[in-house]
Amino acid sequence: MKKLNVGIIGCGNISDIYLKNCPNYEYLNVIACSDLDREKAIEKAKEYRISALKLDEMYADKSIDIILNLTIPSAHAEVSLKALQSGKHVYLEKPLSISLEDAKKVIEMANEKKLRVGVAPDTFLGGGIQTCKTLIETGEIGKPIAATAFMMSQGPEGWHPNPDFFYQEGAGPLFDMGPYYLTALINLIGPVKRVTSSAQMSLAERTITNDVRNGDKIRVNTPTHVAGILDFESGAVGTLITSFDIFGGSTLPRIEIYGTQGSMLVPDPNTFDGPIQIKKARNESWEEVTLTHGNTANSRGIGLNDMAAAILNGEEHRASKEMAYHVVEIMQGMLTSSKTQQHYKLTSTCTIPKSLPSKRSECS
Ligand SMILES: NC(=O)c1ccc[n+]([C@@H]2O[C@H](COP(=O)([O-])OP(=O)(O)OC[C@H]3O[C@@H](n4cnc5c(N)ncnc54)[C@H](O)[C@@H]3O)[C@@H](O)[C@H]2O)c1
Repeated sequence: MKKLNVGIIGCGNISDIYLKNCPNYEYLNVIACSDLDREKAIEKAKEYRISALKLDEMYADKSIDIILNLTIPSAHAEVSLKALQSGKHVYLEKPLSISLEDAKKVIEMANEKKLRVGVAPDTFLGGGIQTCKTLIETGEIGKPIAATAFMMSQGPEGWHPNPDFFYQEGAGPLFDMGPYYLTALINLIGPVKRVTSSAQMSLAERTITNDVRNGDKIRVNTPTHVAGILDFESGAVGTLITSFDIFGGSTLPRIEIYGTQGSMLVPDPNTFDGPIQIKKARNESWEEVTLTHGNTANSRGIGLNDMAAAILNGEEHRASKEMAYHVVEIMQGMLTSSKTQQHYKLTSTCTIPKSLPSKRSECS
């Protein structure tokens, strides 16, 4: 079976799961890695038996078909543009970029060069969200009329070795975690036409509490609590709160969808698994639903594999740049709405990606 050669740029925290999973996918052959920090690239290359290339060598290597861009958000657009410029397809970690202007440049260059751009998260391809999508499409809860989504966390300074970027422009809870929630909601309810929000930067400084850099301070340059309303094109109304300011924990669900004939508890969109519960309008209790789809383990890379398959077969890939652009515009729109104290009307839209076949083989 033909596979596409993948070169990774960015050998940080998230690179391990891709390096572990990719060899199990049908269409992927990871052959090299690179990083601004050469030592990191050499270390990963040794561990996973691939080549460590300098950045210019990576861009120039004609044998590489796809660049997997796992750099920090502020470098996403720059690295993606360089990869496209050198004639390679790109799959990158979320978000597509930290500004709408840069996102537009990436989309335009991909279109001009007729190259693919795929964007994480790909958790919506996991068994949890795919099963929810099937349940909605088969009318289990009727027509969705509202949704709530809550990402209530304490921030990553307790576990991430280099958490500084989470508190800079283009990150914060909305840009860091919002893509999981918004991508899931778009898959289940469709695109959004208007947003409004209030955003605040609650603490000017955060203290790192992980083992590596305990006590180091981070200056906060982005809102850390964002509460918003999403008006979907379908007419459904969503409530989304993303926060790094929840120090005492929360009992709120991750996502619930309310339909004309019942409600659905959607699993954490930062995972690939269930559980899913449904409560029909006349039923007394919530009932757990058996998942119809596989890929329930941490399957990061499934979106990249889907893109490689789509390139080889001349089809559309599911983790599309149009959906990722729409997600960035929703997030940017929420921050704009808070600043201007007005609704923000979306200029972009996207199609809901096709479901995966329910019996697609599981990759772990
Ligand atoms: N850490 C996680 O659990 C996690 C989970 C899901 C998604 N992500 C996303 O993955 C991306 C990377 O996150 P991470 O946690 O691995 O970050 P990280 O800081 O651990 O690693 C990023 C790496 O990119 C390198 N880099 C930065 N700019 C570069 C450039 N211009 N060219 C080449 N290399 C460059 C850095 O040297 C670093 O090694 C982010 O977009 C993040 O949102 C992270």
